[in-house]
Amino acid sequence: PRVAVLMGGPSSEREVSLSSGRECAAALRGEGFDVIEIDAGQDLPGQLISAAPDVVFNALHGRWGEDGCVQGLLEWLKIPYTHSGVLASALAMDKQRAKDAYRDAGLPVVDSVLAAKAEVSARHVIAPPYVVKPNNEGSSVGIHIVHEAANAPPQLGPEMPGIVLVESYAPGRELTTTVMGDRALGVTDILTEGWYDYHAKYVQGGSRHVVPAELPEEVSEACLDFALRAHRALGCRGLSRTDFRWDESRGTDGLILLETNTQPGMTPTSLAPEQAAHCGISFGRLCRWLVEDASC
Ligand code: DAL
Ligand code: MG
Repeated sequence: PRVAVLMGGPSSEREVSLSSGRECAAALRGEGFDVIEIDAGQDLPGQLISAAPDVVFNALHGRWGEDGCVQGLLEWLKIPYTHSGVLASALAMDKQRAKDAYRDAGLPVVDSVLAAKAEVSARHVIAPPYVVKPNNEGSSVGIHIVHEAANAPPQLGPEMPGIVLVESYAPGRELTTTVMGDRALGVTDILTEGWYDYHAKYVQGGSRHVVPAELPEEVSEACLDFALRAHRALGCRGLSRTDFRWDESRGTDGLILLETNTQPGMTPTSLAPEQAAHCGISFGRLCRWLVEDASC
């Protein structure tokens, strides 16, 4: 079959997506697929119609590629595509609404509010420590951390949207679990100097991943269980990756679900392929499985 790998696009995670897309395209060629690479621009509908692929491999991240927009286009064109569909993608990308779905499913999340940027820059809208972020970005783009001792509210620049998410700071270790179909693959402990920011995520050696994480059995089990339940609560398909914070002083009560990524990174430093490899699933097999799982 002919597979079109969609990558790049106009989101703030464009460079990450180009890296994911190149890796996936190479792996799919290695699996014997006829692969075309498409940098998703405004002429994407025309590109898809003329390329006429049997399947689209979605390697886009962030807005337009991970939020239901491109999924809607592919439904319209009746081209089967990998990963989640329209609704799950849109829901997961809206961090505040995703939390409502997690709460309904009995999953632990931190309190947060949506507030106007001007208000957030003028006063503490919740008690510090807290985190201010765009409601719909990935890869830690636009994150402002307001520490406990901070006097001044954060000064949000023009790159931030008019309405932002203000979230109580959840202390602790950074854990993540990948779900592949109906299986949670494992737990990774992410060790960084300071914050797991864009740099730590994508520079080789920017962070250290311990997989499987060395955790009490019940905490690992809770991560696997919560990630599967989050995947189902949002209605995800194919691959997803759910990120957690774990305050080890509080046992399993200290485990908080941060978010689910419906288009987890597939770069050389990314977590989902690393967990798959730990389960004996090669990168090529993971990409092949995604293509075989595609639908519309
Ligand atoms: N948003 C990036 C790609 C991730 O979650 O892996
Ligand atoms: Mg994310």
